[in-house]
Amino acid sequence: MTRFVGRISAASSDKKGEKSGKKWWHNAVVYQIYPRSFMDSNGDGIGDINGIISKLDYLQQLGINLIWLSPVYRSPMDDNGYDISDYEDIAAEFGSMAQMESLIAQAKQRDIHILMDLVVNHTSDEHPWFIEALKSKDNPYRDYYIWRKPAADGGQPNDFHSYFGGSGWAFDEASGEYYLHQFSVRQPDLNWENPRVHGEVHAMMNRWLAKGIGGFRMDVIDLIGKEVDAQIMANGKNLHALIRQMNRATFGKGDAVTVGEAWSATPADALLYSGVEREELSMVFQFDHIKQFWDEHAGKWRSKPFELASFKAVIEKWQTALAHQGWNSLFWSNHDLPRAVSKFGDEGEFRVASAKMLATALHCLKGTPYIYQGEEIGMTNVRYETIDEYRDIESLNLYQERLAEGVSHEEMMQGIHANGRDNARTPMQWDDSPNAGFTTGTPWITVNPNYREINVAAALAEPDSILWHYQKLVALRKQYPVLVYGDFQPVLREHPQVFAWLRALDSERLLVINNFTAEHLTLDIPHQMQNWHGECLISNYAPRDRLAVSIELQPYESFALLIGR
Ligand code: GLC
Ligand code: CA
Repeated sequence: MTRFVGRISAASSDKKGEKSGKKWWHNAVVYQIYPRSFMDSNGDGIGDINGIISKLDYLQQLGINLIWLSPVYRSPMDDNGYDISDYEDIAAEFGSMAQMESLIAQAKQRDIHILMDLVVNHTSDEHPWFIEALKSKDNPYRDYYIWRKPAADGGQPNDFHSYFGGSGWAFDEASGEYYLHQFSVRQPDLNWENPRVHGEVHAMMNRWLAKGIGGFRMDVIDLIGKEVDAQIMANGKNLHALIRQMNRATFGKGDAVTVGEAWSATPADALLYSGVEREELSMVFQFDHIKQFWDEHAGKWRSKPFELASFKAVIEKWQTALAHQGWNSLFWSNHDLPRAVSKFGDEGEFRVASAKMLATALHCLKGTPYIYQGEEIGMTNVRYETIDEYRDIESLNLYQERLAEGVSHEEMMQGIHANGRDNARTPMQWDDSPNAGFTTGTPWITVNPNYREINVAAALAEPDSILWHYQKLVALRKQYPVLVYGDFQPVLREHPQVFAWLRALDSERLLVINNFTAEHLTLDIPHQMQNWHGECLISNYAPRDRLAVSIELQPYESFALLIGR
């Protein structure tokens, strides 16, 4: 029996749950699939929907209940599908609508629900709306996009820059006007001041909901309320009204899960997005824990070293701010970010221990955990030597732009190796056969050479693998409400190497201790906890069932202890 009831049938809601603000998905874990890199079923080197279907048993075994599916819609693939030319068709290289419907149905049989990626800040330049808009200034679709006359000197309307390099304005010769694009020149921004755009998007969302999907992940949703002439792009004045209107017109009637991507979100914003009475979204992705290790000027292309004190401060800030209102999303990685173990753990000697530690930390915080494909086997960043091996439009554009500005090839490659998006986009490593079992053809992007060691088949065969550790964590969240609803209370706050906290629900207490370093440590236990003992729910070395005056922690050791009464 599935718990998701869709928007059309009346929610068979547990009334008690309704009052306490509990939702069916609170104890669920989300798995993100980047379809191009997940599994290729037909040997063309590109992952596809049938490939995903072939791996549903694997995902069911992992225990996840939701899949965030990165875009599979029809697209010229300028930004790997985040440039959509038809919201209601599937890219031929990924499959067909019939296959998509089959994926939804076959997933549902396994109690897995699909979150579609809703990319509505912009479309592709090949979307029929934009093709129409280009035809003339008085075309009915012209106002679906954002047009401005040249500045007095004939140049671009203002100095707004695209996230993918260069100007954020593109000149249209035929009409003598510029259109706005916050991403590539082939991703024109939609005009959310036009009510017809709302109507089109809402109707499209309702048609997807009627197909039985579980909800939406909303791409750069914080940008839709933009105030273009004031150059306020994120968090513009109309943003929350637009989201609430979308909620009422679409998913708000049902039991859907919605997660907004919001690079600009502060904890106060997150309360606006995810406060229950606000009727906006289930939760948002915030990026404080990511951005804090970027350089102030060069951004992601120059990293600051990982530093635990500020990382702890950011996580604590978010856990505390959303303790009673709103809901956190929990993630270390996604298709735009480096691999979790490469960024926050150790890729070498302690890869396995640190990947398990990171997994325990993530799943023992309060919120909904997201696993990015390959994270569950500890996949690492890739280091291609030449720029030609990269495929990501952002890395390629910014490489050109920054080299033209005088940055050296070496520095930029270092930036790409650390934070480039292709780190997360190398093919999923299924086994040790050629191309990691991802394809029988030539993959669209080179496989990470470490697939011979790091792959799903090896992980399934090894009882002590990272994969089985993840599976256990996913199951624990279903078994122990303290993991889902327990309050978060920091412990050993000032400790420079250990991140520890307590989760407390009624009389239940769960202590979580994580050594974030490759060092052996002697950890002094606070006086009132020294005689605590109980059941070790998870650990990455020998399980611990009691504390003491002090304990010796192994490199990246981590455990969660459920304190007995
Ligand atoms: C989001 C997506 C990213 C995409 C961008 C433009 O940040 O996660 O992959 O390039 O939006 O759609
Ligand atoms: Ca394929």
